[in-house]
Amino acid sequence: MNELFSDRINNVAPSFIREILKVASNSSMTSFAGGLPHRELFPIAALREATNKVYEDQGADALQYSNTEGFEPLREYIARRYWEKQGLPISMEDILITSGAQQGLDLLGKVLINDGTEVIIEEPAYLGAIQALSLYRARLNTVPISTEGMVISKLVDVLGRCKPKLMYVVPNFQNPSGITYTKDNREAVATALRDSPTFLVEDDPYGELRFVGSRQPSFRHFLPDKTILLGSFSKTVVPAFRLGWIVPPRPLMGKLVIAKQVSDLHTSTFVQRVLCQYLYDNDLDTHVKTIVEFYDRQCKTMLAAIGEYFPKEIFYTNPEGGMFLWVTLLKKQSSMALLEKAIEKNIAFVPGHPFYVNGGGDNTFRLNFSSAGEDAIHGGIALLGKLIRELPA
Ligand SMILES: Cc1ncc(COP(=O)(O)O)c(C=O)c1O
Repeated sequence: MNELFSDRINNVAPSFIREILKVASNSSMTSFAGGLPHRELFPIAALREATNKVYEDQGADALQYSNTEGFEPLREYIARRYWEKQGLPISMEDILITSGAQQGLDLLGKVLINDGTEVIIEEPAYLGAIQALSLYRARLNTVPISTEGMVISKLVDVLGRCKPKLMYVVPNFQNPSGITYTKDNREAVATALRDSPTFLVEDDPYGELRFVGSRQPSFRHFLPDKTILLGSFSKTVVPAFRLGWIVPPRPLMGKLVIAKQVSDLHTSTFVQRVLCQYLYDNDLDTHVKTIVEFYDRQCKTMLAAIGEYFPKEIFYTNPEGGMFLWVTLLKKQSSMALLEKAIEKNIAFVPGHPFYVNGGGDNTFRLNFSSAGEDAIHGGIALLGKLIRELPA
């Protein structure tokens, strides 16, 4: 059967999360599984107004084919925001609009990866990156992360063993672990990479969702010619628009544009214009503040419930933002066994194992705190705590 399909697609495991989400979409489930933004935070009325304006004011232009790079006013908005929020000098020409950050990953695979190209990813790593890089048959080298960021000694080991072309990281409120790289850790990573030919992909869909403290510097500050930025409106506006972007070092742009043409010619003109209208008519900072306050409350509710109901020896991360936290059970305990019991009680989460490309992580799992309501979080965590106590130690 496998002979029917390309080696490329046979190399990609189906997303375990999508499988769990099928179970978790049952309305009686309390789901800590997906990475869904909370539906009540979608700015529906403002997006409807923006849509009507685009139909009225831009009519046929908004419904026509357009250029691959993307709608210029939207690219200008993104460039300005990089400067205002992060002091990064990025111009409109540096930005390629993509159909979600996920497409940025796919385009990088198309443009930079051959069979066996060495790539570094985090352990645990974002599943969508594992899938995209596996499709292009990269050789995935993992570097573990701790609560500080990358484990530098392991990074240095891997850099000594192979010459990776790419390194993919999510330094802010990482998916799946919720951890954020400290400034010192970022500097150490940058120092380790400075003399290597490796491009660093900084995927930052959650960076604006910070509850405490202040933003840590982007790798683009430390390695301006080597850092590829991926961004997204999925978590700050809505995921259904599928609007993201990539900021590559200039020499990569031309080939990325060609790869994007091959994929889909361009991201929906209409959706880009609607989003742009929304951004010019509304204050994104105000909206992001509402999201941050909401997720901060949800996160605190989850952490308080974990503190109350989980056995004291269970380790969990304390995220500074984003949508996830990460739990490590005792060494011999299995999060897959826990999931089976939890599903019977209508609770879903994602076991850690699929985030580990080289095996391991069997005693870990990811909890999402953005989508369930506060009562459901409290009740669900209480039940999970009871089930953990019933696991063999
Ligand atoms: C780390 C990371 N990168 C990329 C994506 C995909 O984002 P988008 O909706 O922009 O494709 C996600 C989505 O959950 C993510 O967690």
